Order: sequence, then C-alpha cells, then structure tokens
Amino acid sequence: MHKLACPKCHEPLQKVEKTYQCSHHHCYDIAKSQYINLLLNPDKATNNPGDNKESLLCRQAHLNQGYYDIILDEVVQYIQEHHHDHMHILDLGCGEGYYTYHLKEKLNDDSVFYGLDISKNGIQMATKYTKDIYWIVGNSKNIPILDHSLDVITALFTVVNAQEIKRCLKEDGYMIHVTANNHHLIEFKELIYDEVKMKSDEFIRLPFEVVKSYDFKKKIHLKNHEDSLNLLKMTPHYYHIKKEKRHILETLGEFDVTIDIRITIYKPL
Ligand SMILES: C[S@@+](CC[C@H](N)C(=O)[O-])C[C@H]1O[C@@H](n2cnc3c(N)ncnc32)[C@H](O)[C@@H]1O
Ligand SMILES: [Zn+2]
Repeated sequence: MHKLACPKCHEPLQKVEKTYQCSHHHCYDIAKSQYINLLLNPDKATNNPGDNKESLLCRQAHLNQGYYDIILDEVVQYIQEHHHDHMHILDLGCGEGYYTYHLKEKLNDDSVFYGLDISKNGIQMATKYTKDIYWIVGNSKNIPILDHSLDVITALFTVVNAQEIKRCLKEDGYMIHVTANNHHLIEFKELIYDEVKMKSDEFIRLPFEVVKSYDFKKKIHLKNHEDSLNLLKMTPHYYHIKKEKRHILETLGEFDVTIDIRITIYKPL
C-alpha cells in the first residue's frame, strides 16, 4: 500500500477511479501518463516552477550516456548494504527521473518507489521510464507523504527541507544527500567566470545525525561537443555565461571535467 498524503490536510489519499482523494474530499486527478499532480498553488512560486524543458532534456541526454552512473552506484550500494524487505523510498527533486528509475531497476526488490519534483515537465518525462513508480508533481517543502512512513529519502543536487524530511522518515529511516563541492565541474567554472568563488557549504548541511559523510572525486571525459554542451546546459552555469564568453559554446569540444561531490547519510535526531 502506498503512503501518499493529501498536501492540504495530510490525511491519507485513496485511489478513486482516475483520482486520488482524502477523507476531506480534496481531490487530485491522475494524468493520462499516470503521474499525480499534488502541487498546490500556494506552493508554486511561478506558473511553471522547477527546471525548464531544455535543461531537463540536456540532463536526460547526459545521464542516459551513463556519465553520472558512478554517483548512482554509490547510492545503490549504500541502500543495498542496509537493505530490508518492502521499503518505501522517495527520490526528492527527481528531475526527469533517471536516478529514481535506475535505483529501482538496480535494487530489483519489493520496495515502493516515489519520485517527486516541482517541475511538471520533469515528471512528465519521468513517466516514460516506467509507470511502476509513484511520479508526483509536488514541492519538497510540503511533501505529500504520510508522517514517519519512509525508509529512505534520496536527494541528489536538489533543495531539501529538514523539517519535512524528519516528518516523513521512519524512526530508523535515513536520507542520502548528494551535494556538489566547490571543485565540482571546476573546469566549466574556470571557462565561464572571471573569478571562481569558493562558497561555504554550511547552509546545505542538515541538522541531523551524520551516519556517514564522504567526498567522492573523479574526472570524467566528455567525448564530444554535444556531450560537453549537454552537461553545461543542465547546470545553472550555462545561464550565467556572459555575452562576451558565449563563443565558448561553439568551440567547446571533448572535455575532461571533475566530479566532486559529497555524499552524506543522515538520520534525523
Ligand atoms: C539540479 S536538478 C537535479 C535533478 C535530479 N535529482 C538529478 O540529479 O538528475 C534539481 C531539481 O530540483 C527540482 N526542484 C527545485 N525546487 C524544488 C522544490 N521546492 N520541490 C521539489 N523539487 C524541486 C528542480 O525542478 C530540478 O528538477
Ligand atoms: Zn485533504
């Protein structure tokens, strides 16, 4: 049984024909492509929140080439090592769904999976991987999941809300948080910015017990112009390129770039 909750009143949602409804008769349509829109208007900053279509398509192309599978493998390995039957796993800010889908494929168990993103375009793309995941348009600041019902939350390169994570995780549940370090994609930053600023990561750390935290650094080789452009375009750096530097977009060819991330396993206190 799923753990979906009404985003308005947090009561359990029941499937009634082509909708999900709570006991207060709040009703949400299931889209033709089988995702559920549980994003409330007050939880939207704009009409079309989240990553845009171009960025999502570039992300999908990049991920489907397997360039970031080394990150996926780290996440899979931790979950496999701490596995138990019938887990409920939520991928927060799942984007176009690559990691959620491959996590499910690789675990290949009886876990129930949820992929949530604020971008409707992202979730629509995600439904093409499989219908066997609860794909949800929603906001990580108001997660439409019942209290203390999840075993694992994964959050890769996305915004999270500590209170909501604590509310949704079971007492023995944990979160896998993947964040970018200062030297992540440093070669792109050096190409784009006159001065590369090093930022403190204080504000992305969460007030939970750290079970494990480690840095993962590796260089990857982007094979050609298209692959290099896809990675650049799926990052915010692409939108910061000044006019006088835009020529790099044409001349960009094969490229060695550093992946430098931190993987932290948290248990809410
Ligand atoms: C950098 S992308 C990462 C996507 C995916 N985890 C991956 O690594 O491929 C960040 C994602 O967070 C989503 N996002 C941003 N704010 C959000 C929010 N408040 N709630 C849910 N998703 C959000 C964006 O739409 C985007 O898909
Ligand atoms: Zn309700």
